[in-house]
Amino acid sequence: MKIAFFDVKDYEIPYFEHYGKEGQVDFCYYKTTLREETARLAEGFDGVCVFVNDRLDRAVLSRLYEGGVSVAALRCAGYNTVDLAAAKGRVRILHVPGYSPHAVAEHTMGMLLTSIRRIHKAYNRTRDFNFSLSGLVGFDLKGKTVGIVGMGRIGSAFAAICKGFGMRVLAYDQQPKTMEGVTYCTLEELFAESDVLSFHCPLNDRTHHMLNADNLSLLKKGVMILNTSRGGLIDSAALLEGIKERRIGGACLDVYEEEEGLFFEDNSGHILEDDVLARLISMPNVLVTSHQAFLTKEALDAIAKTTVSNIISIYEKDSCENELVFEG
Ligand code: NAI
Repeated sequence: MKIAFFDVKDYEIPYFEHYGKEGQVDFCYYKTTLREETARLAEGFDGVCVFVNDRLDRAVLSRLYEGGVSVAALRCAGYNTVDLAAAKGRVRILHVPGYSPHAVAEHTMGMLLTSIRRIHKAYNRTRDFNFSLSGLVGFDLKGKTVGIVGMGRIGSAFAAICKGFGMRVLAYDQQPKTMEGVTYCTLEELFAESDVLSFHCPLNDRTHHMLNADNLSLLKKGVMILNTSRGGLIDSAALLEGIKERRIGGACLDVYEEEEGLFFEDNSGHILEDDVLARLISMPNVLVTSHQAFLTKEALDAIAKTTVSNIISIYEKDSCENELVFEG
């Protein structure tokens, strides 16, 4: 099987080479992302392997289909970039639903602790032999309320970590699942009661801008906002206003709604055109990482293993437990 692999990064090649050789899946690596203009690179391949910023919209899917591609294997969990309706009956869509929820949940807690205990600032100071503690006062997590939006694999893993810190855990989910020590409530109650608010649900039409200019006033003053899910869950301009008004006490963002074309790349020599992102990054209480919450050895290994096994399953059995099918 020949698979065109888009948006490749050096750190993932060894894992895909290992499992690809085992399963006789031959990857051809392209650094470019998948777009309508680059889709012709996949002509003659059996399938494509794509990541979070590759596009699988109607136009791209048509080009792939016309070029003989029958499978698109996402090497990620989220599939908000895929037009499932347009793919139906033409290109089969596979994804990796849960490779390491712990990788993302632990990164979320890492960002929270870094931010509220000012560890990133202390690191820079001590490297310069500045041992002053001025401006580094944080707060305890024990006894605080964390509100979790989306109690799936990652949300539940994050809830378990927060419980370990002695936090009160509130949650909102469209399909609540019982978990000891977690109390479900409405989104409005979650917004009003949380000292820390963490987003872990998928991005779709219903969750786009879940936090926005209209409901920002419901937030508890000084709340910490965490988003390691998808940028589009939060209206970034509204978030910035909330920070400027001092309603929001801080934000830890591993994802950003306009991250495409910026995140995963070294843009240090370029002028940043995105004024909202530039202003957010300039804030002393905003911490941004570039979509790296998944980036552990364990997660990379599991992603490659499942992606290869998804592809093999489709070719050998004509079915795959991780296939995404448009319901509508
Ligand atoms: P999951 O499918 O296990 O859980 C999602 C949860 O969200 C489910 O419990 C579902 O009922 C809930 N949900 C769906 N729609 C909702 C709505 N409208 N309101 C409230 N809750 C809703 O997914 P998992 O594995 O926990 O991943 C969550 C998200 O994390 C993914 O969709 C992906 O976007 C993101 N992600 C980010 C990564 C990163 O590196 N930053 C890596 C992996 C995933």
